[in-house]
Amino acid sequence: MSAAIPELKQFDEAELDRVFTGLEAEVAAQARTLTGGESVETFRLEWLGRKQGRLGQLSAAWLKSAPVEAKRSLGVRFNRLKAQIESLLTENVEAGGTGDPAQVLDVSLPGSAPRIGAEHPLVKTMAEVVGVFQRMGYSVGLGPEVETDFYNFEALNFPPNHPARDTQDTLVIADQEQKPLRERLLMRTHTSPVQIRSMLEQAPPLRLVIPGKVHRNDAADATHSPVFHQVEGLCVDTRITFSDLKGTLDHAMKALFGSAVKTRFFPSFFPFTEPSADVQISCIFCGGKGCRKCKHSGWIELLGCGMVDPAVFEAVNQRREQMGREPVYDTRKISGFAFGMGVDRIAMMKYGISDIGLLYSGDIRFLEQFS
Ligand code: DAH
Repeated sequence: MSAAIPELKQFDEAELDRVFTGLEAEVAAQARTLTGGESVETFRLEWLGRKQGRLGQLSAAWLKSAPVEAKRSLGVRFNRLKAQIESLLTENVEAGGTGDPAQVLDVSLPGSAPRIGAEHPLVKTMAEVVGVFQRMGYSVGLGPEVETDFYNFEALNFPPNHPARDTQDTLVIADQEQKPLRERLLMRTHTSPVQIRSMLEQAPPLRLVIPGKVHRNDAADATHSPVFHQVEGLCVDTRITFSDLKGTLDHAMKALFGSAVKTRFFPSFFPFTEPSADVQISCIFCGGKGCRKCKHSGWIELLGCGMVDPAVFEAVNQRREQMGREPVYDTRKISGFAFGMGVDRIAMMKYGISDIGLLYSGDIRFLEQFS
């Protein structure tokens, strides 16, 4: 589209003024006719295009033939013309290309809807569980995912080589063999070590919920993932009894799954609680009549719990003394309960998710369903 290059015979100020005023008028006239997008780009290419741009061609031709004393004056004029074109381009791009300030904002156009993120179903469920306990006066505690053998096992009354360690297929950090066992690093297999960390930091009374990510060397299938989530609970005070534990968990399950839900407690074993129990809730799918989801039993097992084993308080006291702190977890004065539940399973039940892998796939089509 480049027009022919007019020959400049004279380089005096008057002639330069005349030629450049003409060019400026041409630029301005063209800019007024722009209608957006493509026309703006064509305009840009015509004047500023690297190869065919008129500005480049004019300056190459005129600067070459100009006498030395006129080059400066020519240069100044080219710069001014270029600035004019650039500012017209900016205006047109900002105005959506019409060049008409009145049309900068066209409120009749459909908006460009920003994509709003959604909370991940696990995060949502975890916050919900934590919220139930916060409303009962619990605080939130957190701990590291890379843990020592001491916190993950020893202080929780899993002695070295105790068979209960085998129930938690542990992912250990490599090259730790030169350290004493209790200092070796591993990926925490449960959130229970944060019970110990919290009691080392704080004196009783204590009411804590501890949400977090845990790791086990489990093969992935529809119900197992090597990474999953737990919410742990710990309540320590004077005269805490098993009925407090039952009442608290029964309330929590009703708050989470609806007031019609019933709970029942079965004897179980965990090294860090005595007595220990597994808690089942009446099946939220069939109301307890029996269905495929509850394997026709009417009940679904959801969490482990128990009264804090005095051996745990003793381990805490011992460590506190080593740290120069008072051994304030006196088993003659205080008692406590603890519980731990799997968040992934709760999320899967609440949202009807059939494969745990979906929670970790990062698939937008899955995640969008929770927005
Ligand atoms: N830490 C146990 C696990 O991962 C769950 C658990 C059971 C936690 C009983 C507790 C508890 O605090 O009292 O299997």
